[in-house]
Amino acid sequence: MVEKSQMSESPVECAPFGVAPADRKREEPLLGGYFVSAYPPFACWTEDGAAAFDRCLDQAPSLTSHFGLYVHIPFCSERCQFCYYLSHDDRPGDLESYLRALLTELRLYAGRSRLRDRELDFVYFGGGTPSLLSTERVETLLGGMQAILPWTRVREVTFECAPSSVTTAKLEALRERGVTRISLGVQELDDDVLRRNGRVHLVADVERAIERIQQAGFPVLNVDLISGLVGQTDDSFRSSLDRVVDLAPESVTIYLLEIPHNTPLFRAVRDGDLEAPPADWREKRHRLEAGFARLEDAGYDVRSAYTAVRDPERHGFRYQDEQYRGADLVGIGASSFSYLAGVHHQNLSALPAYLSAVRENRLPLWRGYALDDEERFVRELVLQLKLGAIDCEQFVAKFGCDPLEVFGDRLEAFRGRGWLTIDGTKLILTRAGLSRVDRMLPELYLPRHRPMAEPG
Ligand SMILES: C[S@@+](CC[C@H](N)C(=O)[O-])C[C@H]1O[C@@H](n2cnc3c(N)ncnc32)[C@H](O)[C@@H]1O
Ligand code: SF4
Repeated sequence: MVEKSQMSESPVECAPFGVAPADRKREEPLLGGYFVSAYPPFACWTEDGAAAFDRCLDQAPSLTSHFGLYVHIPFCSERCQFCYYLSHDDRPGDLESYLRALLTELRLYAGRSRLRDRELDFVYFGGGTPSLLSTERVETLLGGMQAILPWTRVREVTFECAPSSVTTAKLEALRERGVTRISLGVQELDDDVLRRNGRVHLVADVERAIERIQQAGFPVLNVDLISGLVGQTDDSFRSSLDRVVDLAPESVTIYLLEIPHNTPLFRAVRDGDLEAPPADWREKRHRLEAGFARLEDAGYDVRSAYTAVRDPERHGFRYQDEQYRGADLVGIGASSFSYLAGVHHQNLSALPAYLSAVRENRLPLWRGYALDDEERFVRELVLQLKLGAIDCEQFVAKFGCDPLEVFGDRLEAFRGRGWLTIDGTKLILTRAGLSRVDRMLPELYLPRHRPMAEPG
């Protein structure tokens, strides 16, 4: 539900944003970014935007909007061929000083007016590989964070894990400290495919990790898979999913492999070092759609473009849903993202620059973007469509503007291509629309942002 406090002060102007682009067939590039994770796109974010974010921290707090915390742990034991996330080896001492910096950064935030007396609703530890932390470091980090910003009202705490670093003692510490949701990076259950993509774990490690997680009694275990890995076939993906269904996690996420420019896989494809070209988008979507069908047969419900859950009432994903609805989020750690009072921000991403800013008791500000009312309207529309359906009435109530009027032409074009149905005030993506939602969303961007869209 959208809260009144999150409504913009003034309704946005309801002019249609030009005519829909022609319904032409396009080549989909194999290489480059694909997922839409922020609007307006990162290419628009600036240092002035970061200064606007800094100023908004001096505003009075909003005590009614939802509030979350993201914590980035940028360390991995090995770099996977396909991965674009910021991560480093743990050189001696790096992790220790990084964890100290996280607590200092959180203290800097907690001292600013906008966050005074705010209570967290959700927390997310992402990476990198948060499960690389030892049990002692888990205690120190989570205990230290809770002493700065209490978790008394927190409803969901997610902790990302890689299979080889899951131990029973660590899981017990996480559970005792309030973690409710484990997200496990599995990717595929085939040893050959795992090796060829640079994963450090094998199938047996996944099975052992899942057994330990289930014994520790977390309310939700999510398992990440990827459609389109090097060496994956329709058969290997199908068998992986069959095995996952047997293991019965509460939630299964199937990403489509993207090959951004900063990945080892990008260089391998560019230099012709692979035995065969990577799967194209048609094959990847086919595996995703077949995967969802298999999960539905096993009793799961599709809850968003990439995730199916056993029980949508109990196995939701607050971190994603609240952000898509405009919640405040503070991100701590190198390269982390925040969104506060309608202003985006990303921290410095180089580890030395991040650490030295925090050591000097400065927030590690890098780039940001202050959204106007029209941009907030488009942002929420674009992000919420990734959940598969929206009710335009809620947008009218919150922004004074109806997506059906503003984007009439484009929504009609989506409907014509079989990607969307319109039922009264509801827009519902078909399965074909859902599996290409990140390709379709940039068509809803304001004209000034379309040339900067990330997807290639
Ligand atoms: C930060 S990682 C998860 C935790 C842990 N580092 C691991 O890999 O086991 C988040 C997820 O992003 C997904 N991912 C990473 N690179 C990707 C890519 N190039 N395309 C699609 N999904 C990707 C993987 O499914 C991965 O589990
Ligand atoms: S997929 Fe996970 S383990 Fe692999 S490099 Fe990326 S963050 Fe690290």
